[in-house]
Amino acid sequence: MSEKFDVIVIGAGAAGLMCAAEAGKRGRRVLVIDHAKKPGRKILISGGGRCNFTNNDVAASNYLCQNPHFVKSALSQYTNWDFISMVYKYEIDFEERDHGQLFCLDSAKDIVNMLLEECKMPNVEQRYRCDVHSIEKTETGFKLHANADHLECDSLVVATGGLSMPKLGATPFGYKVAEQFGLPIIPTTAGLVPFTLHKQDKEDFSELSGIAIPTEITAQDGTLFKEALLFTHRGLSGPAVLQISSFWKAGQAVSINLVPQTDVMELLEESRENHPNQSLKNTLAKALPKRLVEVLIERKEFEDKPLKQFNQKQLQEIAHHLENWSIAPNGTEGYRTAEVTLGGVDTDYLSSKTMECKKVPGLYFIGEVMDVTGWLGGYNFQWCWSSGFVAGQWA
Ligand code: FDA
Repeated sequence: MSEKFDVIVIGAGAAGLMCAAEAGKRGRRVLVIDHAKKPGRKILISGGGRCNFTNNDVAASNYLCQNPHFVKSALSQYTNWDFISMVYKYEIDFEERDHGQLFCLDSAKDIVNMLLEECKMPNVEQRYRCDVHSIEKTETGFKLHANADHLECDSLVVATGGLSMPKLGATPFGYKVAEQFGLPIIPTTAGLVPFTLHKQDKEDFSELSGIAIPTEITAQDGTLFKEALLFTHRGLSGPAVLQISSFWKAGQAVSINLVPQTDVMELLEESRENHPNQSLKNTLAKALPKRLVEVLIERKEFEDKPLKQFNQKQLQEIAHHLENWSIAPNGTEGYRTAEVTLGGVDTDYLSSKTMECKKVPGLYFIGEVMDVTGWLGGYNFQWCWSSGFVAGQWA
């Protein structure tokens, strides 16, 4: 004997809970299943425990996807303002940080509790520690074998997320379901992730661990972010690096303006005129942390001597070097620490209005499992809310 539901949602993360609540509001009998012990684990650790749940300014250009237009419909059907209204309704205090990022003031738990409250309906059930062993297509829907249960549903929603943070329960389950039903997967890699460095660079810079500086960082495709860079004992991190990592390809260098807030040429020329005996090191230490300047000198990126010994061309070369400092990362820290997974279920095979598979009626993919990746700044959760919402209207 199998239990029958209208909708089964696999994955009780941001996207899955949003979709379950919406389908439940339509009176659908919904079952949410997850192999984890409890819901929304990534939400709980997100944003340093405060969950950057959306952004004041959300556009399709904040997303990476093979089809850059795909996200537009869902983002307009359920906007950042719709989610912010719900946050207001639940009286969750929040604050705006740099670049329009909205964070809970108290705890990310508020967001999980809000979603669970939205799912509180007699027709929405949740089961945890539940493993799906098989999925079969039937004439009218799907049959699932999960734990020892035989389940049936008309609509199946896959919301199992990407590969980042396997210790939080991330699995390639969603990609396998996609493959089972003939949907291609855009190759996946870690995104929003710190860079590791080649041996010599790592040795040189590891002593700067903990130092953060404002930068402008540019990938080889020209994408530029104005954010802070953080030196770590493993390599480079901070928002600048996380952002650019999603645009970086193995073997490429990134270009970094280490002094975006200073006109270095002016600083060097003025200092040479007024303090000709001042060393280059002490001059640059006015624009950069002194230890960083020392490391750059130790690496022979430029020579330390009194300013009067530099001619104009040499000063220009130093300024240009600092404004276009280039470093080729060795790699990234990978899925272990990545915030997201780039690539995923090919959106060409999904309806942008409903998230339903074009060739498999009743099968939906939502959230991070799809080939949709947001920038750092609340955009990934917004994609979960928007894609979960639209699937919830149709599933
Ligand atoms: P998500 O991964 O959240 O949920 C998938 C669910 O499916 C999980 O509950 C999992 O247990 C379950 N599952 C997986 N395989 C299964 C299987 N085989 N069987 C049953 N269940 C299965 N984004 C943002 O916008 N703002 C932020 O502040 C942050 N901060 C942040 C910090 C850190 C440390 C990380 C790792 C990530 C972020 N993110 C973020 C990204 C954001 O967390 C992420 O994009 C969403 O959680 C994705 O939501 P989904 O619902 O798609 O998957």
